[in-house]
Amino acid sequence: MELLGSKTVQEVLIQGEQVPEKYIHKVEDGGVPVPDASAAQLMDVPVIDLALLAASSISADELEKLRSALATWGCFQVINHGMSPEFLDEFREITKQFFALPVEDKKKYLRQVNDIQGYGNDMVFSEQQTLDWSDRLYLSVYPQDNRKLNLWPENPKSFRQTLDQYTMDLQVVTKTVLKAMARSLDLEDNCFSDLYGGEQGKMDIRFNFYPPCPRPDLVLGVKPHADGTLITLLLQDKEVEGLQFLKGDKWFRAPIVPDALLINVGDQVEILSNGIFKSPVHKVVTNSDKERISVAAFCIPESDKEIEPFERLVNESRPRLYKKVKNYVGIYFEYYQQGRRPMEAAKM
Ligand code: OGA
Ligand code: NI
Repeated sequence: MELLGSKTVQEVLIQGEQVPEKYIHKVEDGGVPVPDASAAQLMDVPVIDLALLAASSISADELEKLRSALATWGCFQVINHGMSPEFLDEFREITKQFFALPVEDKKKYLRQVNDIQGYGNDMVFSEQQTLDWSDRLYLSVYPQDNRKLNLWPENPKSFRQTLDQYTMDLQVVTKTVLKAMARSLDLEDNCFSDLYGGEQGKMDIRFNFYPPCPRPDLVLGVKPHADGTLITLLLQDKEVEGLQFLKGDKWFRAPIVPDALLINVGDQVEILSNGIFKSPVHKVVTNSDKERISVAAFCIPESDKEIEPFERLVNESRPRLYKKVKNYVGIYFEYYQQGRRPMEAAKM
């Protein structure tokens, strides 16, 4: 059960308080989070041309780039995805405009306790939880029946229509990526997409707003986590970095490629691929003088689908690593609430 909601970060800032204790990462629970965030190296993930993956004869080089990126980093960037730079700018703009509205106006879309959809901050499950320095607007967009239109902003005026267009375009990107992922592993083209559900596959959108933070040395925008999805498609801020990925025991900065989407696989693809593709642990750091926005799209299998390693990827040299799971997103939240890594639930 969720505890009573707390303030948004913007409200904390308006009231001019010191950074409240609840946001501070303590040494005893894992150390100072970001002693020097900018010292982290840039990650070298490839930028993949989606047009080459979508072609009827997919380029073998591009497929190999994809496979190796997902096996090492669990993510890649994609260009030529069918959305123009102007459209992406417009989409970033409506995001900024929404968060720039007065708090009172945004509260019309406030998330209710125990509901994930709506405007607000982190869901709080325990007194011990360290809060993320970010405000969000979380909306389910597909299947269309999941839409709670009363939570879709009417201001800026073009918000709903632009979001609708953006997510329609993302469904096309998702379809191409899932198929290419299957091919790169020598599997049936539709093995991932059959679990997803095509144009009406379950997609949730999380608009993230990270206000400047007076203590970037002690506070995170998003604490380390891996996503519980099949894949996540992220539109990053065009100017302000913040996202970092863990590889081995080192953090690396995700570079900004202005018109690219950053796509990472989630836990469910790690399970399906029997661990060949890695669901990467990532976090968002804060900075003291610039605000940052990002928009994450979460692609999730229908909750009645059973998720387990594809048989073709289990053999003597690669023994089965994961059990069969169902409704992994439900498991994810249960574990997350207890401060445990959700993937533990799936390990053999
Ligand atoms: C997330 C996430 C990264 C970002 O929303 O799950 O990891 O850059 N976001 O905002
Ligand atoms: Ni994430």
